[in-house]
Amino acid sequence: MVAAPAVSLEKPLILGIETSCDDTACAVLDGAGRVLASVVSSQVEPHRPFGGVVPEIASREHLRNWPAVSAETLTAAGIELGEVDAVAATRGPGLVGSLLVGLSLGKAIAYALEVPFHAIHHMEAHLFSPFLRGQGLVADPVAEDFVGLVVSGGHSLLLRVEGGGDRIDTLAQTRDDAMGEVFDKIGKRIGLAFPGGARVDELAELGEAKAHPMPIAKCGDSLDFSFSGLKSRALRDLDRLQEEGVRARLQEPSEPPSGPLADLLAGFRAAAVDQLLDRVARLHKASPFAVLAVSGGAAANRLLRRSLESWAAEEAVELRLVDMQFCGDNAAMIAHTALLRQRRGLSDDPRSAEAAGRLPI
Ligand code: KG4
Ligand code: ZN
Repeated sequence: MVAAPAVSLEKPLILGIETSCDDTACAVLDGAGRVLASVVSSQVEPHRPFGGVVPEIASREHLRNWPAVSAETLTAAGIELGEVDAVAATRGPGLVGSLLVGLSLGKAIAYALEVPFHAIHHMEAHLFSPFLRGQGLVADPVAEDFVGLVVSGGHSLLLRVEGGGDRIDTLAQTRDDAMGEVFDKIGKRIGLAFPGGARVDELAELGEAKAHPMPIAKCGDSLDFSFSGLKSRALRDLDRLQEEGVRARLQEPSEPPSGPLADLLAGFRAAAVDQLLDRVARLHKASPFAVLAVSGGAAANRLLRRSLESWAAEEAVELRLVDMQFCGDNAAMIAHTALLRQRRGLSDDPRSAEAAGRLPI
C-alpha cells in the first residue's frame, strides 16, 4: 500500500478501480498524477487449489473484497468518497464477470457523485504506467512518441504511441502464449503454486543459462512473439532431467533447486528474454525510436530489466521501466490513464459503458 504524502493536492482527485482478473484494486491519484493511495488485494489463496484463476470465484471475491479495499484506499489517501472528482474503472480486456463488478461499482459511484466517469482499457493503462512514479511523487509527462513493450500473464505486445497517446498502433503480439503465462506453466510443472512466474525468475538467478541453452523463437520477418515452442521445450527438458534421476520438482517453494534444474530455468528465462530483446532491437534498427516504455507483470523479470538497461544504454534509447510496485495489476494505472483522458477532455457515459472480455487496444 502507498500512503498519502504531506503535500498540497491538485484537482481532480481520481478514484481508480481495477478488477479485470484476480486482483481487487483501488487507488486515488491527484491531478498531478501523484499516487495518494494504491491498494491491491490479491486473490491467490482461493484459486490455489485449482492451479489457475477460476472466473466464478474471482467475481465473488471481488464483491467480498471491495468494501475493505475501497475503505483502506480512501483512509490511506486521507479523503472521503464525496471528495472524489472523477471515477475510472477497467472495462476490458479480462474476465467478464470480474470486469462487471468493478465497472458497475465505478459507474454507480460516478453517477451518484455526478462526476465524470472513465471506462479504461487495461492494456492502455499498463502501456502508460512507466510514467507513473511511486511514493506520492508527481507523474512524469507521457512522452510524445514512444514504443511500449507490455508483457503480462495474458498479453505480450509491442506498440507504437504517437502524439502522447493520440494514436496507438499494435506492431506485434504473441501468436500463442503470453510471456507471464509460460513462466507460470513452468512454475506449475516444477511444483510451484500459481502464479509461479516470479519464483521461476528467482530460481533462474541461481543457474547458468549457457549450461542449458534454448533457442530463441523466430517468427520470420515479423516482430510477433511466440512462447509456446519454448514452453514445450522446457517441459520436455524437465521430463528428461527427471528420467535421468535429477530432482526437477520442488517439495516446497523455498527449497533450493538442484544445479541442473537451476541451469534449465536460467536457459528458459534467457531464451524468453532474448526473444523480447530481439524484437525490440530489430524494430529499433528498422525504425529507430527515442523512448522505450516497458510494463506489465512480467516486466518485473530481473533478467529482462538488466538486459534492457544495457541495450538501451548502448543504443542511447531512453528506457522507462515501470516501477516495481506498478508492474502487476493495480488501480493507480487505471486512474492515471483516466487523468490523461480527462486532460484531453474525454470521458464516458456511466449509464452506457460496457464491459468487454476481448478488446483491441
Ligand atoms: O500484469 P499482471 O499482474 O496480470 C495480467 O494482466 O496478466 O501480470 C501477471 C503475470 C503472471 O503471469 C506472473 O507470473 C508474471 O506476470 N510475473 C513474472 C514475474 N513476476 C510476475 N514473469 C516473469 N518474471 C517475473 N519476475
Ligand atoms: Zn494486467
